[in-house]
Amino acid sequence: MAKPISIEVWNPSGKYRVVSTKSMPGTRWIRLLTDNNCRLEICTEAKTILSVDDILALIGDRCDAVIGQLTEDWGEVLFSALKRAGGTAFSNMAVGYNNVDVEAANRNGIAVGNTPGVLTETTAELAASLSLAAARRIVEADQFMRAGLYEGWLPHLFVGNLLKGQTVGVIGAGRIGSAYARMMIEGFKMNLIYYDLYQATRLEKFVTAYGQFLKANGEQPVTWKRAATMEDVLREADVISLHPVLDKTTYHLINPERLAIMKKEAVLVNASRGPVIDEVALVEHLKANPMFRVGLDVFEDEPYMKPGLADMKNAVVVPHIASASKWTREGMATLAALNVLGKIKGYPVWGNPNQVEPFLNESATPPPACPSIVNAKQLGW
Ligand code: GLV
Repeated sequence: MAKPISIEVWNPSGKYRVVSTKSMPGTRWIRLLTDNNCRLEICTEAKTILSVDDILALIGDRCDAVIGQLTEDWGEVLFSALKRAGGTAFSNMAVGYNNVDVEAANRNGIAVGNTPGVLTETTAELAASLSLAAARRIVEADQFMRAGLYEGWLPHLFVGNLLKGQTVGVIGAGRIGSAYARMMIEGFKMNLIYYDLYQATRLEKFVTAYGQFLKANGEQPVTWKRAATMEDVLREADVISLHPVLDKTTYHLINPERLAIMKKEAVLVNASRGPVIDEVALVEHLKANPMFRVGLDVFEDEPYMKPGLADMKNAVVVPHIASASKWTREGMATLAALNVLGKIKGYPVWGNPNQVEPFLNESATPPPACPSIVNAKQLGW
């Protein structure tokens, strides 16, 4: 017999059984569920990534809703099991949901929630941190210090790239891409080139106004350009950050041909999804171009890195922590809990999933709505 999965139970007599596949930051999400007649079971297994079988065991025979994680494979097997257990709701604790087969959820009548609107600045700040760390070789220099190799100031020691006056390229100028662009423009007075199917009007207006402000103060104004092709961004930018969603059209968006057209000293940052970059090709490119640098938060085969990447001094690598600020992670937990609670209670879907502040106000009762359900229309909601 399979070993039972260890769990922690809150409000054992609650009417609705809600499972969370992981413990999540903060306590408000727990309170919101238990105050609303939910029995909450939080998986406490030590393993980092739960298998489909582990989650099937957690769902069991009766389960109203599950809060899951982006590392889990939510497809037909889990959604049909949730349906059989009487469940109607699932929420990813993430804004991205490429781990979820939404069609399978639709077939089984399960609402799928995500957590937008609370990660934007935190994720953009991490992309900005990676840009700086890569451009100024912070991690290499830190390792050098700790290894006791510093013998005194030298003119050539860890010389990197100046950002001021250079061009920042953004591929995918949605919420996170635009927030990142603003940080780099406002903070380092970089010029912008971006590629997106949609015009980023607010971002363009911001750059124009900031450019005018700088000019009025006797400084070089910043400029913006909307590129006709992604290749134009790759060719022209000094620092490029990737912010597309991962789907069939963006898989291996950065491939050998596109790497080849980038500047030899460019910085490439990815805090979106790993498979957007052909990581094997990237390792080859890093080997052949020691002045080319990358900052990566995500990897093609997480949690693994492609062979050779860990040895590259011109790569800064962090373990998918772009949304890891306390405020954001607690907010994500709250939104995920309210997504499933709202479905259980028969609430409507909130009008604007990007404006979720009313749900995050700790001193007020959250609105009676599901903050963000991605398949609401498909379910005829
Ligand atoms: C994190 O990667 C998320 O999609 O929320």
